[in-house]
Amino acid sequence: MTTSAEFRSTLVDQLTANGTLTDPGWQKAAATVPRELFVCEFFRVVPGSNPTSYEAVYRDSPGWLEVVYADQTLITQLDSSTRPSDTDGAPVTGSPSSSSTLPGLVLGMWHQLEVEAGQRVLEIGTGTGYSTALGAHRLGDENLVSIEVDPAVAERAATAIKAAGYAPTLVVGDGLAGHPDGAPYDRLMATCSVRYVPQPWLYQVRPGGKILVTLTGWSFAFGLALLTVTEPGAATGRFLPGYTSFMVARPHDRPPRQSLALLPGDERQSRIDPALIEDWTGGWVAQLAAPSAERLGAGGQQVLSDVATGSQARTMPNPDGGWTVTQRGPLRLWDRVEDAVQAWQAAGSPHQEGFGVTITDQGQRVWIGSEDGPGWNLPV
Ligand SMILES: C[S@@+](CC[C@H](N)C(=O)[O-])C[C@H]1O[C@@H](n2cnc3c(N)ncnc32)[C@H](O)[C@@H]1O
Repeated sequence: MTTSAEFRSTLVDQLTANGTLTDPGWQKAAATVPRELFVCEFFRVVPGSNPTSYEAVYRDSPGWLEVVYADQTLITQLDSSTRPSDTDGAPVTGSPSSSSTLPGLVLGMWHQLEVEAGQRVLEIGTGTGYSTALGAHRLGDENLVSIEVDPAVAERAATAIKAAGYAPTLVVGDGLAGHPDGAPYDRLMATCSVRYVPQPWLYQVRPGGKILVTLTGWSFAFGLALLTVTEPGAATGRFLPGYTSFMVARPHDRPPRQSLALLPGDERQSRIDPALIEDWTGGWVAQLAAPSAERLGAGGQQVLSDVATGSQARTMPNPDGGWTVTQRGPLRLWDRVEDAVQAWQAAGSPHQEGFGVTITDQGQRVWIGSEDGPGWNLPV
């Protein structure tokens, strides 16, 4: 039977071979920290379920350890309260609210953070504590502070981190406020996403320090950015290659939606193929243009519903080609999306790594190409 140490060794070999793990220090951390301590139980998606449903997987069930080391995200909580052992074995539905992020992503982010021995790090989103334990192994307990907003999640993480033999500073609270008592930090890494960079982070990370964070919105588009703090309250940086998404920080989540009634409005022909906003970066651009809108629908039938104003836009393919868009409300959502998508196309439709962000006391602006390129303000 394959042992936990053997599974870890295989995972390290895989992540080294695919270029994720290049630093011997992080290789050692990955080879040492037993992920199974952090995911004693988790949810597995029921194959083919619609709506997506989940069933509990418990420690020592057949194949459990193999899945633990399969480089997958393991969901550990639904709807901010339900854990696997709260279910009676029957499949459940819900929205994932805590997880152990896949090791390849966590270790990749520790690399991307460019953190050096002796530097102080603030992690936002302890979750199961696996990424925290990796950080504590590599950087030392005294250099790591990790914040988790959910007290029950934080308690389980604290138990697991202790069992693994680490003792970083663990804080229960809203990570968007940072942890001033531990500042200044050299690095900040968020494993939950945010709609904009919270101001306290820009003061608690020292000038020259770096922030690795996934920006998101209410249309479920994501972009991982590495920022350098240029002076207290200001930062600049670029988005990174790849396709990284994280569950949104709870205070930045959209308000619960009531049922959505599609109402009549002004009709015209769309200037763009609506399916463009299903593309990873196309959806990102659309979200930048309509940051408080939620996106539903698929292909040529897209629906945007603005949470802040109730404005709507919806597209429909015409029988003889093209698409009709119907808009209503104070915000002409589709006008904004079309302008943004066309600006992105005019710039050559780059992947997100062609974008950057600049933060000053005047606002937070995401741009294409360079600071004087086309851009959009985040909803600070
Ligand atoms: C993807 S999980 C973190 C994964 C974790 N780093 C790991 O390796 O297990 C995201 C976590 O962020 C937490 N979270 C959400 N909003 C937060 C906030 N405002 N402050 C701190 N933690 C938050 C969630 O409760 C959840 O546990």
